Amino acid sequence: LEQSERESLFIALNFAKDFFVKNLDTPEGRSIGLSYFKERGFTPQIIQKFDLGYALDGWDHLMKAAKSAGFQEEILLKAGLILQKEGDPTRLYDRFRNRVTFTIHNISGKPIGFGARILTKDKNQPKYINSPETPIYHKSDVLYGMFQAKKAIRDQDNCYLVEGYTDVISMHLSGIENVVASSGTSLTDGQIKLIKRFTNQVTVLYDGDNAGIKASLRGIDLLLEGGLNVKAVVFPDGEDPDSFSRKVGSQAFHDYLQANSRDFIGFKIGLYKEEFAKDPIRKAEVIREVVQSIGKIPDPIIRSVYTKEASSLLEIEEGILLSELNKSLIKTQ
Ligand code: CTP
Ligand code: MN
Ligand code: MN
Ligand code: MN
Ligand code: MN
Repeated sequence: LEQSERESLFIALNFAKDFFVKNLDTPEGRSIGLSYFKERGFTPQIIQKFDLGYALDGWDHLMKAAKSAGFQEEILLKAGLILQKEGDPTRLYDRFRNRVTFTIHNISGKPIGFGARILTKDKNQPKYINSPETPIYHKSDVLYGMFQAKKAIRDQDNCYLVEGYTDVISMHLSGIENVVASSGTSLTDGQIKLIKRFTNQVTVLYDGDNAGIKASLRGIDLLLEGGLNVKAVVFPDGEDPDSFSRKVGSQAFHDYLQANSRDFIGFKIGLYKEEFAKDPIRKAEVIREVVQSIGKIPDPIIRSVYTKEASSLLEIEEGILLSELNKSLIKTQ
C-alpha cells in the first residue's frame, strides 16, 4: 500500500509536469510564460532540459485536467498540487496559478515538486511558491538541479552551490553544469551527504547582498563540519550568478569565478579586510571567526594545514591560533 501510494504520487507529479510544460505552448502560455523566459535569456533547449512550464491563470485548470485523467482528489492533495479552501475544506483549488514553473527532480530525474515564480513585481505576494513536503519530496534531502548536474560534478570534482533556481539555469547557459541550488534555505546534513556522493569540493556562490553573505558564512561552516573542502566567491553588490553572468557574458563570468574563488579563510579575510587594516580589535574578531571555522573541520591533518595558512595570511603566530583552536574544540566536545 505504501509503495503504491508513492507510485501514484510520482505519476501525479509527472502529470502536472507535462501539463505545465504543455501550457507553455498555448496562446496564454506563449504570450506570458514563454515570453517571460525569453526575456531572461532562456533558450528552448534549456526550457526543455529543466522541464520549465507555465501554470495558467485560473483556480482549477490543473485539478480539472488531472481529475478527467482519473486522479483522485486525495492523491492531488497529498502531492501538494491542490489545496483546501480555508474554512471550507470541500472546496479545492490549484496551488500553482498564473506563474512560471520550475520542476524539481529527484536524483533519477523524476518530478517530485515545483517552484513557481510570480510574473509581476507585486510585493504583496511571495516571489516563489513551492511544493510542500510530501511522502516523495523530502526537502532536506534534495538540491535543485542535482539530476542535471551530477555527472558534471563528478567529472569536474567540484560542486557550485547557488541560492536560486534561475542561478542554476543561467550557469548551465554559461556552460557550467556542475551547479545545484539550496533554494534559499539553510543547508541540511542530508543535502551535504548528497553532494558527497559526487565530490568532496564545494564552491559557494551565494548572492552578493547581506543575506547572501550571511548565508555563505553559515553554509561554509556546515560544509566544513561535513568534511568537505570549501571555497567561496563574492559577487558585486546586488548581483547573483544569474544576473552577473548575463551582465558580463559567459567568458567574463568564467574568468570571474577563476579569479575570485577563495578558500574559507581567504573569504572571511576578504569580507573584513578594509575594516581590519585600520582596526586591531576587528582583526582579533576575524582571527576568532577563522579559528572557529577551522574548529569545525573533523580531520586533524586538514585542520593543521589550515591553521598554518591562517597563521601566515593573518600574520599571527601559529601557537596562538592553536591554543585558541584547542579552546574552541573543547567547547564543542
Ligand atoms: N525563494 C523562495 N521563496 C521566496 C523567495 C525565494 O522559495 N519567496 C527561494 C527560491 O528557491 C529562490 C531562492 O530562494 O530561487 C533565492 O531567492 P532570491 O535570490 O530572492 O531569488 P532568485 O533565485 O534570484 O530569483 P529571481 O532571479 O527570479 O528574482
Ligand atoms: Mn521529510
Ligand atoms: Mn537572494
Ligand atoms: Mn538571487
Ligand atoms: Mn536572481
